[in-house]
Amino acid sequence: MTRKWWHDKVAYQIYPKSFYDSNGDGIGDLPGIISKLDYLQDLGVDIIWLSPCYSSPLADQGYDISDYYKIDPRFGTMEDMDRLIAEAKKRNMYILMDLVVNHCSDEHEWFQKACEDPDGKYGNFFYLREKKEGELPTNWRSYFGGPVWDDLPGTNKQYLHVFHKKQPDLNWENPEVREEVYKNINWWLDKGLGGFRIDAIINIKKALPFQNYEPDREDGLCSIKTMLKEANGVGKFLGEMRDRTFKKYDAFSVGEVFDEKPEEIPDFIGDDGYFSSMFDFNETIFGQSQKGWYDAKPITPDDYKRCCFESQKKIGDIGFLSNIIENHDEPRGVSRYIPDGDCFDKSKKMLAALNFMLRGLPFIYQGQELGMENMSFHSIDEIDDISTLDEYQVALDAGLSQEEALKVASRYSRDNARTPMQWSDEENAGFTSGTPWLKVNPNYTSINAASQLKDPDSVRSFYKKLIALRKSPEYKETVVYGELTPLWEEQHNLMAYSRKGDKTLYVIGNYQREEQSVTLPGACQKVLLNNYPDLQADGNTIRLYGYQVLILEM
Ligand code: GLC
Ligand code: CA
Repeated sequence: MTRKWWHDKVAYQIYPKSFYDSNGDGIGDLPGIISKLDYLQDLGVDIIWLSPCYSSPLADQGYDISDYYKIDPRFGTMEDMDRLIAEAKKRNMYILMDLVVNHCSDEHEWFQKACEDPDGKYGNFFYLREKKEGELPTNWRSYFGGPVWDDLPGTNKQYLHVFHKKQPDLNWENPEVREEVYKNINWWLDKGLGGFRIDAIINIKKALPFQNYEPDREDGLCSIKTMLKEANGVGKFLGEMRDRTFKKYDAFSVGEVFDEKPEEIPDFIGDDGYFSSMFDFNETIFGQSQKGWYDAKPITPDDYKRCCFESQKKIGDIGFLSNIIENHDEPRGVSRYIPDGDCFDKSKKMLAALNFMLRGLPFIYQGQELGMENMSFHSIDEIDDISTLDEYQVALDAGLSQEEALKVASRYSRDNARTPMQWSDEENAGFTSGTPWLKVNPNYTSINAASQLKDPDSVRSFYKKLIALRKSPEYKETVVYGELTPLWEEQHNLMAYSRKGDKTLYVIGNYQREEQSVTLPGACQKVLLNNYPDLQADGNTIRLYGYQVLILEM
């Protein structure tokens, strides 16, 4: 594996709308981010991924872009963006933008022009089909529910949208579309961006010609994933994109890739892969059901361990995964991966260390470093996210009561991660002086940055230590490149592994409330990190406290 500039970095995801509001309109913005760069630098962050802040009607919170060359006025101006890039650079930080090019917004000029003249140049920017009464071009269900087809306004045609109807899919088969995308990427890279996170990219290749598949629910539709499974040749587009853009700049790119085939991994993230890295979603997709969230199976500590190790084994040293505990599309990781009733600082730190020490590039999602938790939603009206509203309806249609459906929606809602960042115990968690666009989690009085900054034992201080360890001259080589081998793999509710580089480190987490023991094969040289003040050892046998995590040098 060739060494790259970004391997030893630590990345942090910002969801701009909910990060910090500088002007009191209740919406986070770029000047707000700039004012918090020192906070991020203090934590040890190098790479910042911004969820979309381009011009957008925000139907899917910015993942519906109406102008790829403009900043949405709600988030600021292009001058703010330039300033953010420059201020980041001063601190040796890199900014990644979100590249959303499977689709644009129905308010994008291209789509407007396609409506005016569906047989002209811009009609071919999208997937259009003649409208037939009582029949859809195909029976595919969109990710956010309902058919993927809607009427193209003012015409006798329909257009394809695999996500929301305000997110028409771009026709990547059309070279003119691809040229527009590359032009845009290079324009941003010329501005000095560090690279991109690449949204929903597997969807750009459709199985042609379009056809119906076996329906999988009573609505007579089939999951969009059924079509994607049949689609071959996404690599041709991705390779071209790499060569025409990222490669020339040595930019960092991380793909949101689902369902890749094992034999394709080298193509995706090998030495000359389409992307620098891709996210590991093995834990996040665990327990998913075709039927919907209401049928999903919760994940246990043993499942969590298995998922992590499976990914590690699959990737080996082919490339670098990007490891996450959560993102803006998922509930809070501590609420999901820590058994109910056990979510407190010790267990949060354990989860942090187990994930952070995996081989790959760690990504922290805003507030994760504080141990921010899921929201408890009291009514579906408190939820804004379109995907959650759909899943709520799916649960009701399946016969769940309103109360049960709300429970399901709350458990998995993307809005759990989108509640405003908890900066302090002041009003609205110090996020805004106005009315926040989404309700603040009421636990901000106990979970917030201001108090954790002062507390050497806080979850944030623990994250800071983890980051410092990854960067320390002594251990860096091992933490970044060391080979990972699972330890005591069959021991119930224990997740442990070694990292072998020029040093040997053991990461051991007791993933339960009860104590349990492990016997080390040799003497421990040094305890590098411990989420308890002490360690119960008898010779080489360690009796681990509930949710104790240790990083040992052997
Ligand atoms: C990705 C984004 C998600 C968005 C979807 C459509 O999965 O992370 O937030 O809704 O793509 O753009
Ligand atoms: Ca604002």
